[in-house]
Amino acid sequence: MRRRLAAGNWKMNGSRAALAEIAALAEAFPAPASEIVLCPPATLLAPAAARAEGTALRLGGQDCHAEPRGAHTGDIAAPMLAEAGAAYVILGHSERRADHGETSAQVRAKAAAAQAAGLTAIVCVGESLAERDAGETLSIVGAQMAESIPEDATAEALVLAYEPVWAIGTGRTASSAQIAEVHDFMRAELTRRFGAGTGDGVRLLYGGSVKGANAAEIFATSNVDGALVGGASLTAADFGPIVAALEAAEA
Ligand code: 13P
Repeated sequence: MRRRLAAGNWKMNGSRAALAEIAALAEAFPAPASEIVLCPPATLLAPAAARAEGTALRLGGQDCHAEPRGAHTGDIAAPMLAEAGAAYVILGHSERRADHGETSAQVRAKAAAAQAAGLTAIVCVGESLAERDAGETLSIVGAQMAESIPEDATAEALVLAYEPVWAIGTGRTASSAQIAEVHDFMRAELTRRFGAGTGDGVRLLYGGSVKGANAAEIFATSNVDGALVGGASLTAADFGPIVAALEAAEA
């Protein structure tokens, strides 16, 4: 049984005032059946961890370096995230692939570093609109998976997020049929590469304009184990209904 997961990606948003949202969310879901994770900017990780202490809420980073330490100005190592209170780290988000030219090979090295530091990597994959229109969705996702996932990945250390680039921040959500096609493909690919145990165990999240209004339909879709949520994770008022939909899906 895969434990469902609702992860919020705050991206480059939030200040100390937003820590109140963490307390409100934790209070709304004191003992959730699903896992709830928030990934604030790195500067808020330690105070967020202090707020979340003693609650069911878990925290994550939004990126890490592939090396555990060294001369890499401005970067953050996976063990540093763990020390600051993170249990997860988002890796290979399309915004990092676009803004920083991150390659799948780099994502794979980062995922290995995250695993070594005891973090669970949420590795993101997804096609652009041009790639979808060209009928390349599954080949793009398959190549990103092949190149971004480390050889020794485990169901504990890896979560995969399918985030079609054209659905991120656009209000345009992939249809259930589109999500099911990709998620079924990802499950088959994982099982082919890693065998039934790990292949069945890795959780698959959908991301891209997930809101309270569309969450239940998305969570009822084949091989969807939860969501990676951007804009609608910034407040407890918006994220709460998404978590509630996930809790209802679990029951
Ligand atoms: P939105 O939910 O704002 O579309 O962002 C999705 C995303 O990129 C999460 O990582």
